Amino acid sequence: MSADEIQRLSKRGTTPSLAEEFHRRAKALEAQGERVIYLQVGQPSTSAPAAALEAIQRESEISILGYTGAAGIPELRERLARHYQERYGVEVSSERIIVTLGASGAMLLALISCFEKGARVAIGQPFYYAYRHAMPTVDIECVPFYPSEETHFQPTVADLEAIEGKIDGLVFASPGNPTGSMMPPDQFAEVADYCRQKGIQLISDEIYHDIIFDNDVPQTTAVAHSDDAIVINSFSKYYSMPGWRLGWMVVPEYLSEPVTHLAHNLYICPSAPSQFGAIEALNCREELDKHVVRYARNRDILLREMPRLGFDRFAAPHGAFYLYCHVKHMHEDSAKFAIDMLEGCGVLAAPGTDFSPRDGHHFMRFSYAGSTEDIEEGIRRIEKWRS
Ligand SMILES: Cc1ncc(COP(=O)(O)O)c(C=O)c1O
Repeated sequence: MSADEIQRLSKRGTTPSLAEEFHRRAKALEAQGERVIYLQVGQPSTSAPAAALEAIQRESEISILGYTGAAGIPELRERLARHYQERYGVEVSSERIIVTLGASGAMLLALISCFEKGARVAIGQPFYYAYRHAMPTVDIECVPFYPSEETHFQPTVADLEAIEGKIDGLVFASPGNPTGSMMPPDQFAEVADYCRQKGIQLISDEIYHDIIFDNDVPQTTAVAHSDDAIVINSFSKYYSMPGWRLGWMVVPEYLSEPVTHLAHNLYICPSAPSQFGAIEALNCREELDKHVVRYARNRDILLREMPRLGFDRFAAPHGAFYLYCHVKHMHEDSAKFAIDMLEGCGVLAAPGTDFSPRDGHHFMRFSYAGSTEDIEEGIRRIEKWRS
């Protein structure tokens, strides 16, 4: 194979994200001595629960923390199965739980195991961009579609019916990223039914579950709606363990074995220390719910203060830790606006362009996963910069 051909293949799916580029720019500013307020990243400012850290220490004293089974250690798989009983009242056998390298690793396993080359998988925009970028690496076409702002950008059956051509899969997240919006349970049930009838593989990304603020829209899991859906979840958000690179999926029974073999062949197993920590993290709801109280406080500060700064067009998020604001009335291009803001007052927010290549240049996403002090400082700086 020629070097040209290899260079072409090596770029397969290497779509850069603005988020990464802007993060680099912010780091360069910091290297010059400026303190940057990062409101672009969906990373909790807290560490993992103390009991999770202790569990790793304990385990490292009695075991070598070697390879585990590809689908994870039985204790964690069983604990996660119990989690579905406790949180949602649904029975899931532990064989259906596959522990993964974050939600990202789970999505890769789902894509490879469920779809043929050339399959078409729909994702309503705006959405977390990495899945859209990852699909071409495994020769899957990401089919963007555009749910209405009236349904808080959460897909309806009518949206799915309006997609041109047959689709093989659908990915959605409730609460969603970048909107924090949730899909009401009846809409959820309709979408799940439609997918079953049409033979569309449903992949429900539930990574923001348990970070919800009011019970306006109750949390629901796809496991309760369909035996064929794939559910993806992670320890990165509610459990405050993003760098531990641990997540899980719930798969239909018939996928359990093939997905396990696939995981083994791709990366042998998920991180052993993280798995021992994760078992404990699942028992730390009291500590973790305090983080949710902080997110709710941060959200309320933003809802109150942002309109004063000109960011006055948004839907209040039901969950997650993002506020997705219209900025068209302030700037034609949110990417340029984000750079101006970074250079003008040292506050970094995420331009919507990553989340929706079609309309994202009219939006900006502010993350409030961080500390309340950072949210308040960010607001002070933006106010001064805009006045
Ligand atoms: C909707 C969504 N899915 C998946 C991920 C990736 O998560 P993980 O850290 O578990 O790989 C993110 C990260 O922000 C996300 O927002």
